Amino acid sequence: MAIEKVNHPYVQYGAKTKHSYDEMKKAEKYLPGGVTANIKHFAPYPIVMKKGSGAWLEDVDGNHYVDYLMAYGSLALGHGHNDIKKAITDQVNQDGTFLFGTPHSLEVSFAKKIQEYYPSMERIRYTNSGTEATLLAIRLACAFTGKKKIAKFEGHYHGGYNEMLYSINPSMAEAGSEDEPSAVPESSGLNQFGDGKPVILPFNNEKATEKLLRKHATKLAAVIVEPVQGGFIPAEKSFMNKLKRLTEKYGILLIFDEVKTGFRVALGGAQEVYNINPDITTLGKVIGGGFPIGIVGGREDILTITRPKASGDVFDVGQGKGSSAKDILFHSGTYNGHPTILAAGLATIEKLEQEFQQVLTYTNILKDNIEKIGNKENVPLKTIGLGTIFSVICTSKNKIRHYRDLQKTDLSLRKTIDFHLLNEGIYTKPLNRYSISTAHGDRELEKTIQAYEKVLKHHLGEDGGRL
Ligand SMILES: Cc1ncc(COP(=O)(O)O)c(C=O)c1O
Repeated sequence: MAIEKVNHPYVQYGAKTKHSYDEMKKAEKYLPGGVTANIKHFAPYPIVMKKGSGAWLEDVDGNHYVDYLMAYGSLALGHGHNDIKKAITDQVNQDGTFLFGTPHSLEVSFAKKIQEYYPSMERIRYTNSGTEATLLAIRLACAFTGKKKIAKFEGHYHGGYNEMLYSINPSMAEAGSEDEPSAVPESSGLNQFGDGKPVILPFNNEKATEKLLRKHATKLAAVIVEPVQGGFIPAEKSFMNKLKRLTEKYGILLIFDEVKTGFRVALGGAQEVYNINPDITTLGKVIGGGFPIGIVGGREDILTITRPKASGDVFDVGQGKGSSAKDILFHSGTYNGHPTILAAGLATIEKLEQEFQQVLTYTNILKDNIEKIGNKENVPLKTIGLGTIFSVICTSKNKIRHYRDLQKTDLSLRKTIDFHLLNEGIYTKPLNRYSISTAHGDRELEKTIQAYEKVLKHHLGEDGGRL
């Protein structure tokens, strides 16, 4: 790679982020790869941040950025919103503790609020992350149906545990045929205990999905889906309707993983947009206001199998314990329903109730402007997404319908643009989606448009240093 070229994005990046480089070198001595989650890493080294405020981030070199990553979509009100600060402080002052370790009333009022927007979630359980939520969802599905396999879609992410770490970002060499994709492992160390591989389905492909569901119907407990893949490739309406009908027909539960889409594609998530009631829903990200949380909810008859019974639970040490723990659906967690986090989440939802429309307006203006600048500068790009999340796709093709379409777009151009934008003070992790918050306003919009104009006009010429 010709980094010596003056216009190569790494040249300016290296000059602007010297302290980030030093911090990452230090971090490597303690943390593998210098990071606490692989997603935080990108080459040549990630930017280390030290302060956030509203829509802005400041890095350890003192550079300021308009933040569009928003902690992978979690921060719907931006950084450090006063309503959330107040809600947390009030909650702690009122409760006199950070954590009860017992039932408390906010667990119920928060559940009620969730149900207002997600009526399909007739009963809910709290977890500490989206990963835990989908894990519990598939355990519930297997227990309820008595079946052992799960189907997921190629390119969809549901958290980082053995059963779901397949075909999220497979190489085309390994991905298998378009109509019957292979289950490609996304980590070493999976499946020590037998074949837990999911069936992989092709998104937005009705015919092939129907064929695969029919083929595996007797074994499939559930289909889990990101209704908007990666938060930005929407399922086609007819595909979603068909998926709902097929799962009903074959006695397979339908799980909507709305960790990204909840309170983002609409307040009521993708299920509001598609007008479909899934059997089970998982939520996360926005509902914690920046703190770790997940929720599993769904049909009462399904969720009810998590309820404690008189004895026999794995933690039941009293008299008369039978050997029946395997008949009870295990769900527990020291921090489930954490009052401080629920207070932060409730404050977030209440603010979104007032300002969601404004966030939608900002998102649409930004999308329009990015496309206009692309047109003007003859750079083939478009924006896709629903609600307050979208992604910028470098292609002149009209439709991006699934993972394989995305792989055929110019990812190298997108990454090059992203690095030049970082140098101009516009932050998202290279190649990631844009998540908009209530804190994004005119000032941020103007800066972003100016940065796009500069990058697309001046930085993508022959010496643009393609990444
Ligand atoms: C759709 C989806 N499901 C599950 C998860 C896992 O959530 P968490 O990172 O909170 O464990 C994510 C995280 O990005 C996600 O986007």
